[in-house]
Amino acid sequence: MGTSDFVEPRFVDRVVEFRVLEELCSRVVALPIFLYGPEGCGKSRLFREFVARFDGVGVYVDALERTRVDRALFFSPVVSELREFVRVIAGAVSGSVGVYLADRVFDLVSRVGVRRCIEGERVVVVVDDVVRAIGVDQVEWYVKWLYESIRKFVEEFHPRGLVVVATTSEGVSRRLVSRHRHAVVYLLWNLDYDSFYELARELGAPSREVVDRVWEFVGGNPGRLVEIASVFRWDVSSWIELLRGRLFEVFRIVRSEDLVGELLRVIEDPDVFIHEASPRFEKLLSILEEYNLVIYKYCMLLSREYLRPCPELGVGKYYAWQLPAYRVVLEEFAR
Ligand SMILES: Nc1ncnc2c1ncn2[C@@H]1O[C@H](COP(=O)(O)OP(=O)(O)O)[C@@H](O)[C@H]1O
Ligand SMILES: [Mg+2]
Repeated sequence: MGTSDFVEPRFVDRVVEFRVLEELCSRVVALPIFLYGPEGCGKSRLFREFVARFDGVGVYVDALERTRVDRALFFSPVVSELREFVRVIAGAVSGSVGVYLADRVFDLVSRVGVRRCIEGERVVVVVDDVVRAIGVDQVEWYVKWLYESIRKFVEEFHPRGLVVVATTSEGVSRRLVSRHRHAVVYLLWNLDYDSFYELARELGAPSREVVDRVWEFVGGNPGRLVEIASVFRWDVSSWIELLRGRLFEVFRIVRSEDLVGELLRVIEDPDVFIHEASPRFEKLLSILEEYNLVIYKYCMLLSREYLRPCPELGVGKYYAWQLPAYRVVLEEFAR
């Protein structure tokens, strides 16, 4: 966030996700769950909150944290054994703490298993933002390793329930993981309007009109809402101005590839990547995915439903703009 005095707002919604996660944890889920969704949609916050309230053995690793063990590792309240471990590794790790922990996450839960009887208990393990930490080229290997580790852990410790989750915002990694049988991929999406409004009020939004304007540009994304509230003090125009600077670079690449016509079509309807599939659209998709502007969304939500298309926000059946604002700004450049 860049502001050191920033306090996370009160947690809102995610009732359905909590219910599904609780349900999943009541049995052993043999495959790791690979959860992906737009940057800032609330993946990290969801799992931190879930682990903090979980009444079984819960371990959360922030794979992106480079230096501070106390930030990289959270446990559910019942797991006190690992606190001591935090002190031990704090002194021992030389590289990135998050990557170190992501590689040893099953050692960690096994430590709990050795100290106490896990048989009959519920266990949840979350490795957050694993792809950006270990790199796309490692993700297939990592997911397979999680898969193998689940099997071994269950054989050794016989938990009643076990759920292992890895998260990412990278579209490329979703594709790599989907090719294999070693994981199930789910989508996490932004907040709905009511929860978004509730969070905006929590953050001190001056009026309903301001919230509606932010919604038009960020479509329920809590991360961007927090950014506009705390860094930009509700000055949406300045936030857009900043975006222009970032997106101009992408537009330059699109133009140099002679894909501006295709871009305008995607701005109208992101599903043209399916309906008008061609090498040129494929090229454009790889650019927009690389910059995390467009995301594939034909994946089930945790609720086992599909997110409904919403053309006003640039959300199709198969693809979506990560933020409606990206469309608005790129359209300005293209016309
Ligand atoms: N359900 C929620 N209630 C309140 N704040 C949230 C919620 N979800 C996300 N946020 C806030 O939005 C910001 C981005 O969320 P984060 O979990 O970091 O997104 P992601 O991990 O998907 O990129 C954080 O400041 C987080 O506290
Ligand atoms: Mg995150």
